[in-house]
Amino acid sequence: MPAFTATAPGKIILFGEHAVVYGRPAIAVPVDKVRARATIVADPKGEPGSVKVQAPDVGFDGELAAIPEDHPLAGALLAVFEEIDLERVPACKVRITSTIPIAAGLGSGAAVSVALIRAMAAFLGFPLSSERISALAYKVEKIHHGTPSGIDNTVVTFHKPVYFIRNKPVEILRLPKPFTVVIGDTGITSPTAAAVGDVRANWQADPGRYEILFDAIGEIAQEARRMIESGQPDAIGPLMDDNQSCLSEMGVSSPELDRLVEAARGAGALGAKLSGAGRGGNMIALTSAQKADDLERSLYEQGAKMVITTLVREVGEFHND
Ligand code: PMV
Repeated sequence: MPAFTATAPGKIILFGEHAVVYGRPAIAVPVDKVRARATIVADPKGEPGSVKVQAPDVGFDGELAAIPEDHPLAGALLAVFEEIDLERVPACKVRITSTIPIAAGLGSGAAVSVALIRAMAAFLGFPLSSERISALAYKVEKIHHGTPSGIDNTVVTFHKPVYFIRNKPVEILRLPKPFTVVIGDTGITSPTAAAVGDVRANWQADPGRYEILFDAIGEIAQEARRMIESGQPDAIGPLMDDNQSCLSEMGVSSPELDRLVEAARGAGALGAKLSGAGRGGNMIALTSAQKADDLERSLYEQGAKMVITTLVREVGEFHND
């Protein structure tokens, strides 16, 4: 019985989180060292329409019908069934696993959705385009956190560095010179919806101040794009520091994030900032390849629960494997 497997990478936001929800540009890149993996096999002995789901990371093992429809796992599979409009789904077994930390700003929710959607569409014999997969994963993102910008599902689906503006066609970033980023996890889970909701409340209370911050972040993202695309990635270090200052002012950093950001700078990083929704989750630091080990050590010493070093580069589109 052939198995249909799809994987999807984690992601980090290099520039522009939060401001991207308000129409400013952001830059995100895939992180290949962590992944979600979905495998689907036909279940010849199963009743027609039976979909058995194993999701050991969240302790679920049972029929899809037992998962509430507004749960993201169900949301991803039901989105495919709706898209393909089959009368009845052939009996099958779905297994989903992920090495991406949950609620840490590494896009675990989007990666799980994309892997499930890609694998299920392939199993059903209707492989979907990346545009459609991303659109379906976006629907599921809305279940997770209300007003997502769409950046997570986009970068994870296309599996390439992206320059992203909400409701605009995705732009793939040219990246003539790869660069090294060290990711440090505070180990503090921070639901995206809560941080995004607080920023919204603050923006509503003081729109003038927040619009200025969003504009500043948007300009930083534009400048970073110019530097990356012209082969000067080292020049984005100071822009990361500026972006971090804006995020701190917006109230989405935290003492733990600040400590790791400072540790990275102290160990020779060219720039550092939180990545994702903030309040917890991950920070990122730009470094020369030679200093990556020093940075890793320093981040662990200052309390990081996990550190990943990743080479940011242009990568090919991701397919089923
Ligand atoms: O899912 P996270 O934690 O990487 O955060 C997503 C980035 C935000 O800009 C805060 C929200 C969004 O939808 O773009």
